[in-house]
This record gives sequence, structure tokens and C-alpha cells, in this order.
Amino acid sequence: MAYEFSPETEKKFQWLLTRYPKKDAVLIPILHKVQSEIGWLSPESMEYVAGRLGLSPARVREVASFYTFFRLDRKGKYVLQVCQTMSCYLRGSDEIVAKLQQLLGIQAGETSADGLFSIEKVECLASCSTAPVMQVNDWDFHEELDLERVEKIVALLKQGRGGHACYEKRVADGGVA
Ligand code: FES
Repeated sequence: MAYEFSPETEKKFQWLLTRYPKKDAVLIPILHKVQSEIGWLSPESMEYVAGRLGLSPARVREVASFYTFFRLDRKGKYVLQVCQTMSCYLRGSDEIVAKLQQLLGIQAGETSADGLFSIEKVECLASCSTAPVMQVNDWDFHEELDLERVEKIVALLKQGRGGHACYEKRVADGGVA
């Protein structure tokens, strides 16, 4: 499907151009913006970005595919990334994944039929001292997880009530009805 920047992304793009001395330095930040807008980097969006920056599509794809934080496949609205590295593994990350799979009816690596959720097993999320941890999209980080909190997070996301850790904590503390 054809892609072009939304007005908001266009505004961000124009701003980024003023912040960097070279156009190609804008590539990574604008790819982040596109991904946050459409949920992944479609081939069309990468081609469009290449055109806007005067780069080859191959160069844009090369950069996008190098970094694991860029998603080149369509995912769910909420991508639940559970760390599987040692500290998290020793503190029950397998059980977190099993709980998510049970709640959502999909396996790790899959996307739910309603397009809402994807589950991913990932390597260290750089918060080993607060294991086990899970990241929702690029914007929400949950630490020292247990199965009860996993259930609450999924329930909130299903209700479209965000999922920011601070919000979840306020709900848990009784601060949100
Ligand atoms: S081992 Fe899980 S965050 Fe580092």
C-alpha cells in the first residue's frame, strides 16, 4: 500500500532536517517515527523515506534490517517483548511467556487474529537487576513481573487503556477506577 508521511510525521521530518548536518543522519530517527506511526516498516514506507532523503532504497533497508528494534514484518498493535536472557530466565521469563500465550491464544512469534497482540522472545533488555522484564512496543517497560501483573497488563491493553507502567501501577494502587 502506498505510503507517505502523515502531517505529524512530516512536521517531525522537517524538524529533524534542521537538527542534523547531513540528510542521511536523519534516517534512523525518521524510521523510528514511521514505525511508531504505522507499527512497522513496510517496504513502501522505506522506499518513501529513501526518496525523501535522497538515499537508495537498498541503503534504507540495510540500516533498518541491521537494528533489531526496527520491525520489518507487520506485527500486532501491541508487541509484547519478553526478555529470555539469563537473569530473566532464572526469574521465570518462561512462565511469563507461557502466561501470555495462554491469555492470548497464540505462541511466541505469532500475532493474534484480531491484530492486537504479538508475543516475542528477545535478548537482554538491559534491566537485568529488575528481572523478569517485558517491553510493550517502544514505550512501556514492565519490571519485576509476576503472572498476576501480566494478566492486568493484558487486560488494560485489551481495554485500550494504554499500558504505561506508571498507569498500570496507579491502577494496582487503586488510583484509577
Ligand atoms: S537479562 Fe533480562 S533484562 Fe537483562
